[in-house]
Amino acid sequence: MMLKFSILVACLLVASLYREVQSDDSSESSEESTIPANVTMKIENSLDSSWPSAEYVVSVPVGTSVYEMMVAAKEQFDDFTFEATYFRQYGGHFIDSINDLAGSSADQTFWRFENGYGVAFDRGVDLILVHANDDVIVFSFASWA
Ligand SMILES: *[C@@H]1O[C@H](CO)[C@@H](O)[C@H](O)[C@H]1NC(C)=O
Repeated sequence: MMLKFSILVACLLVASLYREVQSDDSSESSEESTIPANVTMKIENSLDSSWPSAEYVVSVPVGTSVYEMMVAAKEQFDDFTFEATYFRQYGGHFIDSINDLAGSSADQTFWRFENGYGVAFDRGVDLILVHANDDVIVFSFASWA
């Protein structure tokens, strides 16, 4: 539990710094919010190749956060599901499970969150915004050990 919490805190601390830097841009993003985008969301398990990976093309407006995109995906696809915990003190969500596979402190596993090139995002799902049509977001079940 402590480790999981530390990861969350580290992500969210960076996230809140980023938000302050970005706050000047907020007027710009509201204008973009009606531009539609098809974002590819890939769900993979880097620890078990037999686990059924999945890919969803989610329709959301440009400027949607990845968290909101996941909420939209839940509505758009019957076979996509996720659970998240909201930490009010950090203003962000921690992803607990995707498609019924949950990270575990005992097993030292979590849902890694990457761009389409396998690079992990340094911020939480609430602070990464979908920027364009054809964006790719990857959730990869991984070990932190
Ligand atoms: C998203 O995909 C749908 C279905 O393929 C398509 O009709 C629509 O034009 C696409 N939207 C964009 C912004 O590319």
